[in-house]
Amino acid sequence: MAYRRFFCNLDLPSRTIENRNSTIEHRPWWQTGVIYQIYPRSFFDANGDGIGDLDGIRRKLDYCSGTLGVDALWLSPFYPSPQKDFGYDVADYTAVHSDYGTLADFDRLLSEAHERGLKIILDFVPNHTSEEHDWFTESRSSKDSDKRDWYIWKDPVEGPDGQPGPPNNWLSNFGGSAWEWDETTEQYYLHLYLPGQPDLNWRNPEVQEAMFEQARFWLERGADGFRIDVAHAIMKDPAFRDNPPNPSGEGFHKHRGAYDEQLHLYEEGHPDTHRVYRAFRRLLDGYSTDSDRIALGEMHIYDRGEWASYYGQPRADGTRDEMHLPINFALLKADWTAAGVREIVDSLEAILPRGAWPNYVLGNHDEPRLRTRLGGKDQARQAAVLLLTLRGTPMLYYGDELGLEEVEIPPEEQLDPWGQNVPGLGRDGCRTPMPWTSESDTAGFSEASPDQLWRPVGEANRRRSVEAQIDDETSVLALYRRLLGLRRETPALHAGSYRPLDRGVPEGCFAYLRTGPDRDRVVAAINFTDEALTVPLPAEGALLLSSRLDRRDETTGERLHLRPHEAAVVRIA
Ligand code: GLC
Ligand code: CA
Repeated sequence: MAYRRFFCNLDLPSRTIENRNSTIEHRPWWQTGVIYQIYPRSFFDANGDGIGDLDGIRRKLDYCSGTLGVDALWLSPFYPSPQKDFGYDVADYTAVHSDYGTLADFDRLLSEAHERGLKIILDFVPNHTSEEHDWFTESRSSKDSDKRDWYIWKDPVEGPDGQPGPPNNWLSNFGGSAWEWDETTEQYYLHLYLPGQPDLNWRNPEVQEAMFEQARFWLERGADGFRIDVAHAIMKDPAFRDNPPNPSGEGFHKHRGAYDEQLHLYEEGHPDTHRVYRAFRRLLDGYSTDSDRIALGEMHIYDRGEWASYYGQPRADGTRDEMHLPINFALLKADWTAAGVREIVDSLEAILPRGAWPNYVLGNHDEPRLRTRLGGKDQARQAAVLLLTLRGTPMLYYGDELGLEEVEIPPEEQLDPWGQNVPGLGRDGCRTPMPWTSESDTAGFSEASPDQLWRPVGEANRRRSVEAQIDDETSVLALYRRLLGLRRETPALHAGSYRPLDRGVPEGCFAYLRTGPDRDRVVAAINFTDEALTVPLPAEGALLLSSRLDRRDETTGERLHLRPHEAAVVRIA
């Protein structure tokens, strides 16, 4: 097969391959490995209804573990759901939505993934359920329901105008008040997202126990861990105080109007959240040998010290007691310059407590496509080099390895609630079908006709299919495969230390040295400018790869020349 041939082109000294065993064995897989996020609706449609499914993912496992060479798949939600927020509104945590298949399909996917050494991480959505979840139906039925206190219900409060209104000024991430009036019982309930996503009351111990039980269901089946949705917001201020105004008026996420005019002090990041994740870690550890079932937390906490506190407290064995990896979103918001990116990496390195392992992400189902965001293919290639050579676990978003662009979908056609409420924010464009072949109208994603696909493929993306790139030795896909192979085979990259290089490095270039446990050394250098640059190296080097994949068998001496917007990886003597 084409990919086998390609792997052989990785010109690696055998020394590092021997080292591989001694190094990899001493580190958990989630530190040395790479996590690949799949949006199940859009990966591969096995039954021709225009919607991707679990069996479709199973059929593409060879692509994931062989062609690409990632170590774990994180699957966005595939549970029963009215799909108001595309599965992040869960109506039943322990079943599979018929769009995606059956539990038997899941079991088969998991077992075939495990046969290949691939881990499967599920999306766990603890902050809210769907309004269609039985718990909520029960809770909203009466003030006396024994599930009433499973959600957050409040009486109206008299506003400045003397009229009864919501209990405080908290806002929904999707626009408007976070409180919805319920006619039946004449109280408000809290929803930090859509009214169809009522927030659970994690201060009620029954809720915690019930939700942990849902997690156990998947752990018993063999799931390798969870990405925890909205992990930062499950505990609210018990006094439900009003949020204060945001003096800068600048939003952390995107420009969301009124939402950015508040500081979100009281509905997220409450210190009691730690208690839950400590307990959740104990739950995972109970199913693990060597901490191998993991928690990745969606932690939108922008104070870096506070963010890092979600790794938890140190334990006697050198590990910490909460999240294995609180997801680090900083690069998604980076000012794409050498100084901007370096500041993010250096400050993360400085803030990480002992026993905490870094991680980086450059794309997900909530953000515009990497290539579109950075504004060009050279930038997207640099980003790949950066992500896969930094110290820390990389998380890749499906399709970024093909250099996919955001598909333009006008606001009135957006299915995503964000796109409907706040023009320009719709997330449909980064969630479009994966193009497998270029010839077919549906890019080989589905047997359905193009107008039956749940979202369009996009003409430009169709031409970037796996098939179109697989035999092109300079394609973006080839770059990701080379980088993934290089990272796997090189202890300096998957396990080594990080040190930024300063001496003589021109402004506009970010260069760093990675040194492996066995002293193998690699430099990665990224030119963020439109000009050619020369980077002094700590010693003579041999070029392992250029982001353009057009330089081969080059020795660099002590100086590395970089073309505009080029990135390179060099082995140092
Ligand atoms: C997370 C998900 C996002 C979803 C939201 C509400 O941020 O990543 O897709 O809309 O939670 O569940
Ligand atoms: Ca399908």
